[in-house]
Amino acid sequence: MTHNLLTVAYIAASALFILSLGGLSDQETARRGNLYGILGMVLAVGATAFSSVSGTGYGVLLAVGIPGVVIGALVASRVAMTSMPELVAMLHSFVGAAAVLVGIANYLQPEPSLVGVEATIHQLEIFIGVFIGAVTFTGSIIAFGKLRTLIGSKPLLLPARHFLNIAMLVASVGLGVWFMGLDSPAGLLPLLMMAAIAGLLGIHLVMAIGGADMPVVISMLNSYSGWAAAAAGFMLSNDLLIITGALVGSSGAILSYIMCRAMNRSFMSVILGGFGAGSGAAAPASSSTSGEAVATTVDEVADLLMTAKNVIITPGYGMAVAQAQHSVSEITKVLRKRGVEVRFGIHPVAGRLPGHMNVLLAEANVPYDIVLEMDEINEDFPKTDVVLVIGANDTVNPSAVEDPGSPIAGMPVLEVWNARTVVVMKRSMASGYAGVENPLFYRDNTRMLFGDAKKNVDAILTCLTAAESTRKPLATVSS
Ligand code: TAP
Repeated sequence: MTHNLLTVAYIAASALFILSLGGLSDQETARRGNLYGILGMVLAVGATAFSSVSGTGYGVLLAVGIPGVVIGALVASRVAMTSMPELVAMLHSFVGAAAVLVGIANYLQPEPSLVGVEATIHQLEIFIGVFIGAVTFTGSIIAFGKLRTLIGSKPLLLPARHFLNIAMLVASVGLGVWFMGLDSPAGLLPLLMMAAIAGLLGIHLVMAIGGADMPVVISMLNSYSGWAAAAAGFMLSNDLLIITGALVGSSGAILSYIMCRAMNRSFMSVILGGFGAGSGAAAPASSSTSGEAVATTVDEVADLLMTAKNVIITPGYGMAVAQAQHSVSEITKVLRKRGVEVRFGIHPVAGRLPGHMNVLLAEANVPYDIVLEMDEINEDFPKTDVVLVIGANDTVNPSAVEDPGSPIAGMPVLEVWNARTVVVMKRSMASGYAGVENPLFYRDNTRMLFGDAKKNVDAILTCLTAAESTRKPLATVSS
């Protein structure tokens, strides 16, 4: 493949990646965005393979590429939506590992054409690339462990942890100075020592981050993996890898910023960790988690829905686990047909990955125009008859607003408790991902409908359709 043709292919792939990101920013265009991304990647891999591999190289490429494609396709097709963040964390660790390995290989096989300042810059690129790669690699593995609950979600708060981080950074810079003064392969020792220290830094940084901040960690590691890829692009003098890495790095950084804003957190406080340990301050009476929670029944909830003028549904992670979205969509249709106004309130970090709830509701054909963001719907709760909280917990926790001592204090939440009646559907009184107790369950206007969300939503749907078809008052149908 000629150099010009390769440049054209790279420009086309870059344009497809930009179109892909644009498409993925809206649920109506997300499928198209995904398709652009696939096309761009096929073009990028194809053009790179044809331009830089020859002869027996193709055999090696196919020998590693085909198993990679098969494993990737199998894993991606089998992964449940709720496990997607774990898969993403694992994939980020691969990018980090690749950047480290490319850096070391690049160092051991220096480019003879690079001399003087160019050689120095190249050596610096290798050092920085290996550093970012090692932090991304180990940080992503810890994030995977936390999301899988192989590691507890509570932050690890070592004494003098900020000092430890600074010491590791200073040691890396010191090793960098040593590395820059040596020629290949003599600098391998400081390079490997720095990689080990950067790996420890990645572990320590993510271990110090509590459960409720994990959404930001995932997007932050996404950003790091982009910068690691861009660094690998500099090492390999591959323009497309630089562009793609920069796109991933900056979009991940923007997403992290958006999520921090949604959770009312500063980016630095998330990165430095410690959130989720609790401050130990006593909760005011309004955020009490004592008293009795009032349980309700499917019949009562169906009755409430049939007599309501307007209903807001706030789904969370539990709806995804139970796969209740299709039944929720059916309930919505029945109620809307009956003239009840039904809308959905979506918290930006509901579920386990950005846009999780939007994807599930779109999959169940819930019309986009009744799915509203938290900011769009929060002030409507006081005018709402019934709120159905389906498998959500942290995202509807009043202590975020009312209890300055709560670990989630200051995080904007869906203020469901302002509605006339709130029905919380979950299996037990257990806390959510952040491990924070929820006073909503003990409010006078809250009713707890215990059990699997899918089973309960199905049972409510049966009651509603039976009442609709017989046109009898609901109480006589369900009792
Ligand atoms: P959570 O606070 O995690 O609460 C989900 C609730 O669903 C649980 O309390 C659980 O209670 C219930 N549940 C689980 N399985 C269920 C089932 N089969 N049927 C009925 N209920 C079920 O969820 P949320 O309100 O969506 O908040 C999300 C949390 O995850 C936030 O803390 C957020 O920071 C964190 N997080 C988010 C992301 C992203 S990017 N969105 C990534 C990582 C972490 P029971 O066990 O009693 O049933």
